[in-house]
Amino acid sequence: MLQSTQPIGIFDSGIGGLTVANAVSMALPNEEIIYFGDTAHLPYGDKSLEAVQGYSEKIADFLLEKNCKLILIACNTASAAAYETLKKHIGNRALLMNVIDPMVEAIANDSSIKKLGIIGTKGTISSGIYEQKLKAARPSLEASSLATALLASMIEAGFYNNSVSQAIINSYLAYPDFQDVDGMVLACTHYPLIRKEIEFFYHNRIKVFDSTDIISSAVKKVLTENNLLNTSRSKAHHFFVSDFTPSFEQTARIFFKGEIVLEHFPLWE
Ligand code: DGL
Repeated sequence: MLQSTQPIGIFDSGIGGLTVANAVSMALPNEEIIYFGDTAHLPYGDKSLEAVQGYSEKIADFLLEKNCKLILIACNTASAAAYETLKKHIGNRALLMNVIDPMVEAIANDSSIKKLGIIGTKGTISSGIYEQKLKAARPSLEASSLATALLASMIEAGFYNNSVSQAIINSYLAYPDFQDVDGMVLACTHYPLIRKEIEFFYHNRIKVFDSTDIISSAVKKVLTENNLLNTSRSKAHHFFVSDFTPSFEQTARIFFKGEIVLEHFPLWE
C-alpha cells in the first residue's frame, strides 16, 4: 500500500529533466523528490530502443529501492522508448508517469491549435509517438515533427538566450512544414530553457507547449486522485547522477532553481 509520505522519483538521461523536477518542486512543495540523472549514458536521444529500455529499468529499480510512491520519466526519449516496458516491470509497486501523455492531453484539449510542430531528439521524433497519440486524441489535428539533435547539447554547453543559440534555433525552425503552425511542442525536457527564443522566432504568435507546468499539474492530479498528496515534507530532496563532474553540477543550477547538490551514485559499476 503506497503512502503519501513516500518520495516522488524523477529520472532523465542527465540534467535536462531537472526542468521538470523544478516545476514539480514549485507546484508541490510538500513532496520529497529523489532525482536520478543518468549522466553516464547521456545523451539518450541517439541510443537504441533496447539500450534506453535497459537503462530505464535499472533506474526504476533504484527509485523503487528508495521507496518512491510515483516514478516520473522526465525525459521524452525514455518516455517514448520505455514507458510501456516500465509499466509492466513496476506493476503496482509505484505509480508511473511519462511526460508525453499529459502534453498530448493539453494539446488535444486546446481547440485553438489546428496545425502543430514538434521538436525533440532523434529517438523521440523517430518513434512517431506524439503524432500517433495526437491523432488518436484529435484526428483532425495536423502535426509535423523535426529531430533537432543539436539543441540539448547546445543548452547543456550554456548556449541559450544568446545570438549563437538563436541562430541555430532559427535554422531548425526554418523547416518548411513549420511555417504556418499555430503551436509548437517542445518534446525534450531541456527545451524549456529556449522557450523564449522559440516564441521570439514566431513573434509570439503561436502557442508553445513545454513539459514544466503541464507535467507538474498532471503529477498533482494523479497524486490527488490516488490520495497520495503529502501534507508536510520532513526530508530534503536528493539528486543522484551516475557520473559526476563539476561541470554537471554547474549546469544543474541552470535547470533547477533551488539549492542543488549532485550526489554521485555509480549505478553501472
Ligand atoms: N532530456 C531528454 C529528452 O527529453 C533529451 C536529452 C538526451 O538526448 O538525452 O528527450
